[in-house]
Amino acid sequence: MRALEGKSVILTGAGGGIGRPTALMLAAAGARVAISDIHEANLAETLAQVKQAGGEAIAVCADVTREDDIRELVRATVAAFGGLDVLVNNCGNSFAKDRDILSMEADLWDATMALNARAPMLCCKHGIPELLKRGGGAIVNITSGAALSGQLGIPAYSAAKAAVISLTRSVATLYGAQGIRCNAIAPGLILHDRLAAVFPTEQIRIDAENILSPRPGTPADIANAVIFLASDAASFVNAHVMPVDGGLLAHTPTYAQTRALGSAGPNISKDKER
Ligand SMILES: NC(=O)c1ccc[n+]([C@@H]2O[C@H](COP(=O)([O-])OP(=O)(O)OC[C@H]3O[C@@H](n4cnc5c(N)ncnc54)[C@H](O)[C@@H]3O)[C@@H](O)[C@H]2O)c1
Repeated sequence: MRALEGKSVILTGAGGGIGRPTALMLAAAGARVAISDIHEANLAETLAQVKQAGGEAIAVCADVTREDDIRELVRATVAAFGGLDVLVNNCGNSFAKDRDILSMEADLWDATMALNARAPMLCCKHGIPELLKRGGGAIVNITSGAALSGQLGIPAYSAAKAAVISLTRSVATLYGAQGIRCNAIAPGLILHDRLAAVFPTEQIRIDAENILSPRPGTPADIANAVIFLASDAASFVNAHVMPVDGGLLAHTPTYAQTRALGSAGPNISKDKER
């Protein structure tokens, strides 16, 4: 039995680096997937790949900053698949001018909030009534490790992703008793092709020195977590924020430097016998 056999799923940001492999893996897990993105050509390519792999999908081009588009996305999904079981709020991004507070343009802050925080809220607003008609369902929000720790840069994005964590807990608290589970995934650096092309090589090296798992994160790592949280295997997991970051945020801040010393860390015990 596949984990999401017959489930009706909405996935936003499905033309992107994490979104496309997630669409493919959701379909391979048996889901009927309504994929959505603002980028028509990338969305069409994802649809083609899902269908070529034998998956069931429809594509709805939508701008998630527009409530009418989200309303239409939910309507089209229900029309195609007869209802909605799972909502994956994957769409999100930071903007190049999101550098620091002193140069922050109020419009940039608002645009970042609209894309990263308001959009998943609106998807919940229009998706939850359909989940409730089925007696409940699952929502998976993609937040970011940037929401869980201070960053040198991207302050608007970090704040918006922190709002997604709060949204996740609010939705789970408000609708959990009616059968809705709402969880979040906080990815670390997930180096797909589009991101690898623009991400500074030196920063990739520094990140690699600070993650505990000895490899970079992949889109499949996120897709696997999405499928788990969306499935009945996670039926008692609610309002949880799951880092998928190779342990980046789990260790002492001096991990990389201490490891470079070739030491397991200082032992400050005064008891020399044991
Ligand atoms: N890649 C990483 O390292 C990483 C790390 C932490 C969190 N995340 C989060 O994971 C999610 C996916 O990231 P990604 O790396 O695949 O990004 P990506 O840029 O590759 O994909 C994002 C997709 O969203 C679409 N999009 C942008 N604006 C839109 C709008 N207004 N309406 C509809 N679609 C729109 C884009 O066309 C694109 O296809 C995002 O929420 C991101 O913040 C990614």
